[in-house]
Amino acid sequence: MKNIAVFASGNGSNAHQIIRYFAGDSKVVIRLVVTNNEKAGIINKCKQESVPCFVFPKDSFVDSDGLITFLIENNIDYIVLAGFLLQIPQALIKEFPKKIINIHPALLPKFGGKGMYGMYVHKAVMETGEKETGISIHYVNEEYDKGEIILQKKCAITIEDTIESIGLKVQALEHEYYPVTLKNIIK
Ligand code: GAR
Repeated sequence: MKNIAVFASGNGSNAHQIIRYFAGDSKVVIRLVVTNNEKAGIINKCKQESVPCFVFPKDSFVDSDGLITFLIENNIDYIVLAGFLLQIPQALIKEFPKKIINIHPALLPKFGGKGMYGMYVHKAVMETGEKETGISIHYVNEEYDKGEIILQKKCAITIEDTIESIGLKVQALEHEYYPVTLKNIIK
């Protein structure tokens, strides 16, 4: 059995999909959720799904010893980032090599890096006049948004699209492919 910690900072729609997908799975357990944001939407979703959710202040991701001890004490095997907006500390990456997975709402290496998250990504994609965008699921390494890519899926951008409609297309891909890709990696 593998224990997963999901990290999420906001609404948590991906984290929620992942929790629902693995509910009742005998091999993969969503053991807990970690958020840095006490107002994150994911907190109520966790209550709804009876998954423990822990708020760790921003500082815990700078000096991360306490967080690392907490994850080890909870026998965490994999960390899944689902809309987690703080940089992952180097010490955590060292402790969980190739065991931290992220989803990015664009086709990396384009539109990655610091400050590139959520709607900022879709805005940049639209302003650049891209004809397609999509999702990238990748391992997290020392370089921001540059870890080995596990899966990419594309969707077309048409002249009718807005930043919001691009966001919805990308979100549909995320919900369809993130849980199943995690299953393929972890099982
Ligand atoms: C998702 O689109 C995810 O790919 C993105 O934040 C959104 C979170 O939505 N992550 C990044 O931009 C990371 N750089 P959610 O809270 O509804 O899952």
